[in-house]
Amino acid sequence: MSDRPAVISGRNLSCLFGSGKKKFHAVKRVSFDIHDQEIISIVGESGSGKTTLARMILLLQPISEGTLLINNQHPLHPKKHWQYVQAVFQDPFASFNQFFTIKNQLLSAFKLKESKIDQKDKQARIEAALLQVNMSPEKILEKYPFELSGGQMQRLLIARIFLIRPRILIADEPTSMVDACSRATILDMLLDLKRKLHMTIIFITHDIGLAYYVSDRIFVMRNGSIVEQGGPNQVILHPAHSYTQRLLQDIPVLNRAWLQN
Ligand SMILES: Nc1ncnc2c1ncn2[C@@H]1O[C@H](COP(=O)(O)OP(=O)(O)O)[C@@H](O)[C@H]1O
Ligand SMILES: [Mg+2]
Repeated sequence: MSDRPAVISGRNLSCLFGSGKKKFHAVKRVSFDIHDQEIISIVGESGSGKTTLARMILLLQPISEGTLLINNQHPLHPKKHWQYVQAVFQDPFASFNQFFTIKNQLLSAFKLKESKIDQKDKQARIEAALLQVNMSPEKILEKYPFELSGGQMQRLLIARIFLIRPRILIADEPTSMVDACSRATILDMLLDLKRKLHMTIIFITHDIGLAYYVSDRIFVMRNGSIVEQGGPNQVILHPAHSYTQRLLQDIPVLNRAWLQN
């Protein structure tokens, strides 16, 4: 993987919040390279800066210090950047406007596209994207977000990714607000998306077992810093940093034995 070109590079990236005595680093001098088509998991306890780092990469959060490079260049204008980098967040309802039908929300994805697409073609692409996430277009398109479950909404966000076809996807705890049954489906769909579109994925998760299975490399964050990064065998089975060792202790013993088999 590391022989592929870097698609996202961070050099001493920092994000400062607050001012005066209350000033603190949510992300502190973080450096990394993520290569084309890699799956990277970011793990770390709540408040360690994972979402802030994701928002910086998405240009939703200003960078206080350091440099972010996308394909070895400074990021493009946001609209162009978002054709290239997209995200699925924890709360799917927050990503949709409550007052618009699902059809209108999905149509808005085409606003990011450069070329004009005619109405019939848009409709066909939306239907194809919904089928990718096992949803029936005729049952869903005229509905409003409040009529759907969290799992359904998360699948719609994945359908939206199929429409936009970004090169990089950031999935920020995408299954933490859905039921266990939808969780496995959503994970499968994200991995399917990666296989079909050859995307690079940044997976932010609490689930170290999941990170172990799906990632090429794992970044461990603590207090805004990446304290350890490496392949899953190295980070999970032979962690170098005491913080990673402590994180692993939170995994029930049974699961740890299972990881090692
Ligand atoms: N907009 C903000 N203003 C001030 N503090 C923030 C803001 N966003 C996040 N933080 C703080 O930054 C730290 C990192 O948060 P976050 O990136 O959400 O962590 P994680 O995703 O790892 O749980 C936390 O202490 C959080 O309270
Ligand atoms: Mg978070």
